[in-house]
Amino acid sequence: MTNQNEHEQDHPHQVPAAFKIQLPTPSTPIHSATVSAPTNIACIKYWGKASSHYNTPINDSLSLTLDQADLRAVTTASCCKCFTEDKLWLNGKEVQMNASTLKRFRACVDGIRALASDKVDDITHQIVVTRSEWETMPVHIASYNNFPTAAGLASSAAGYAALVASLVALYDAREEYPGQFSAIARQGSGSACRSLYGGFVAWRAGGEREDWSDSIAEPVVDEMHWEEIRAVILVVSNKEKETSSTKGMETSVTTSRLLEYRAKHVVPQRMKEIEKAIQEKDFESFGKVTMMDSNQFHATCLDTYPPIFYMNDVSKSVVTMVHVYNEWAEEIRAAYTFDAGPNAVLYTLEKYQVELLALVLRYYPEVGEGYVNNSELRKEAMEFALEAGLVEAVEKRCRVRDIGDVKMVYCTKGGPGPQTLGDQCSLFEFV
Ligand code: DP6
Repeated sequence: MTNQNEHEQDHPHQVPAAFKIQLPTPSTPIHSATVSAPTNIACIKYWGKASSHYNTPINDSLSLTLDQADLRAVTTASCCKCFTEDKLWLNGKEVQMNASTLKRFRACVDGIRALASDKVDDITHQIVVTRSEWETMPVHIASYNNFPTAAGLASSAAGYAALVASLVALYDAREEYPGQFSAIARQGSGSACRSLYGGFVAWRAGGEREDWSDSIAEPVVDEMHWEEIRAVILVVSNKEKETSSTKGMETSVTTSRLLEYRAKHVVPQRMKEIEKAIQEKDFESFGKVTMMDSNQFHATCLDTYPPIFYMNDVSKSVVTMVHVYNEWAEEIRAAYTFDAGPNAVLYTLEKYQVELLALVLRYYPEVGEGYVNNSELRKEAMEFALEAGLVEAVEKRCRVRDIGDVKMVYCTKGGPGPQTLGDQCSLFEFV
């Protein structure tokens, strides 16, 4: 896997040439906006839809928005009278939208466009595009991720959040109630609604209102509140998952009694516990709830008929390593969580990040250059002397790792919501 992040570090927003889209120079004015949006990794999982039509969940969920300096989707939205139809490019290639993608795409474009403002010229203060005129201009959207798509690193969350944020900037859209943009992003991909805010974010399931306008994301605390939180992501597979989240949830909702029980009787209490732990910066409680919720989500996958297996043997070995580490430390220093794929996200605190990374590098050895996205942290971890007692405990309880079990490691932290970028970052090039 190439690590674009490494060579992007000097110019974090320079668009890689392969993702630039060339278009003929338009004959009428073109309007554009480019944004960057983050991924998020849930501590309390969203699994199961209450309404497929509105794309709403059967339970609340909560996640940390990750730093866009490490993982991001960048999207340009452009519109022009001279375009003949709406078009979408992902990672440099035009996408022929199937019915499901088209429904998600339309919900975002039409939803945000309905909230558009008039465009006013900065200098003359004249209206250059009226609100209603936007509808007469097809949109062209180009987007890329700086990490593997569909590898279970929440690329759809970042992608749809970037789509919505780019359209908000393009149309200068205004919310009619707080959280309305997140309700629109939710219709692109559920988890995307949480990527519209920074820090820890809750998605309130809603359901009191008939149109589900109360199923929205809400910031819990911003990224500055618990600045010490870190994430170490172990990419176990960079291949597309076998069972998509949408399909998996559908089967789980119809067959798993455990999922029904979880949504009604487990998640409400866990949401309270984790929000309290975050407010009080209590890593012990935060870590325990996070691990238990990941385990229960994967248990509901096993309880689905036919069962769904997202975690593999490498994922399970990471679980054991984390428990051995915490037992040795006599406190929770790392907490794992797994989404709809085998990749492990380990939450920790800044003071344990190097120790944890040193442990990871010892048992999941490097496969080559660029294995760790952050070369400084890698160096510190390589030089870190793990305590003999820890090494002994891990060796006793965990099998010897094969090189290649883990493909790459991302070290990152919490970060802000979507950012507007300048025109120099546009993914479109007019020739
Ligand atoms: C396991 O948001 O990808 O990552 O709404 O069908 O697009 P759709 O699903 P998606 O599901 C994410 C599921 C999860 C848990 C989570 O992020 O909360």
